[in-house]
Amino acid sequence: MEILITTIAIISVLVLAVIIGTGGKPMRFITAFGETLSSLAKNRIPLLWTGLCVLLILGFLYFFYIPPATRIGPEQPIPFSHRVHAGVKVIQCRFCHPYVERSLHPGIPPVEKCLYCHKYIIANHPWIRKEHEYFNTRTPTPWKKVFYLPEHVLFNHQRHIKKEVECEKCHGQIETMDRIRGKRFKMGFCVECHKSKGANLDCWLACHS
Ligand code: HEC
Ligand code: HEC
Ligand code: HEC
Ligand code: HEC
Repeated sequence: MEILITTIAIISVLVLAVIIGTGGKPMRFITAFGETLSSLAKNRIPLLWTGLCVLLILGFLYFFYIPPATRIGPEQPIPFSHRVHAGVKVIQCRFCHPYVERSLHPGIPPVEKCLYCHKYIIANHPWIRKEHEYFNTRTPTPWKKVFYLPEHVLFNHQRHIKKEVECEKCHGQIETMDRIRGKRFKMGFCVECHKSKGANLDCWLACHS
């Protein structure tokens, strides 16, 4: 998506440059191209300035279309923040993800677990009231999944956690994130670490179900 937007932005700038440069008659660009090539050497200084301007415009477009906010994760039904909970309040990962080494699906905590604290902490906050709504209607909170593997790969946390591979090796520093960005794991990522740690390199085969 981001690549698509950047590509479109670059192409638009180039097309615009051609149209402006040829006074609204883009076909001239082609005939002028030969001449331009020969005059390039003579016009080094103005060319340098043009190049700089184009770079500036591209930079501007980049920040305009891809502001830092779009580089964070998807919006969640409740703006749950790992930075607040795991970072500032230092709640252990295992408190909310207790099955991480025992199950194929470490799972996201059920709303009961949130209310265990939030019955008392900021109980009237609008987002906490939304939690109560989920609880009262017995609807599981529709959290959006953010870490993905290719469909045919089965991943098991157990072996990794036993060998003390930290969460952040794969997930990044979750405790600093408000919204988790997540990623789609590629085979190369897994194999690279397996190589350096001397772990099973057939892992990808072992994981293929
Ligand atoms: C171990 C206790 C505990 C648990 C469990 C817990 N929270 Fe919190 N939560 C806190 C504390 C402490 C704060 C900070 C309150 C404050 O700022 O005064 C907080 C703040 C929040 C806020 C306020 C917004 C913000 O970012 O400041 C939201 C929303 C929230 N929690 C949602 C949740 C959800 C959803 C869950 C369940 C997945 C959950 N919490 C589980 C302790 C907990
Ligand atoms: C207070 C409860 C709580 C604590 C503590 C907590 N988490 Fe979470 N975690 C959640 C909730 C709720 C979600 C789902 C919402 C989201 O993705 O932000 C989640 C989602 C995640 C996900 C994304 C899973 C996916 O693919 O959707 C990862 C990875 C994760 N947590 C890792 C951690 C790690 C590592 C720690 C410790 C540094 C931690 N969590 C601490 C409640 C918690
Ligand atoms: C070796 C890499 C690796 C390590 C280390 C790791 N994870 Fe994961 N984690 C993954 C992968 C891969 C997935 C996606 C699994 C899937 O989609 O089936 C995942 C998914 C998750 C999920 C979402 C599960 C769900 O049900 O949607 C949570 C929560 C999670 N991890 C928490 C943790 C915690 C907490 C730790 C540290 C104690 C940790 N992980 C350590 C690779 C890792
Ligand atoms: C940061 C390092 C690291 C990363 C990243 C990592 N692994 Fe591992 N993995 C290990 C280590 C270390 C072991 C060896 C555990 C043992 O010896 O019991 C292991 C073991 C395994 C095993 C068991 C292999 C066996 O002997 O049967 C599987 C399966 C596996 N990993 C899958 C994956 C997948 C899939 C990914 C990518 C999503 C991944 N791993 C990413 C370090 C890593």
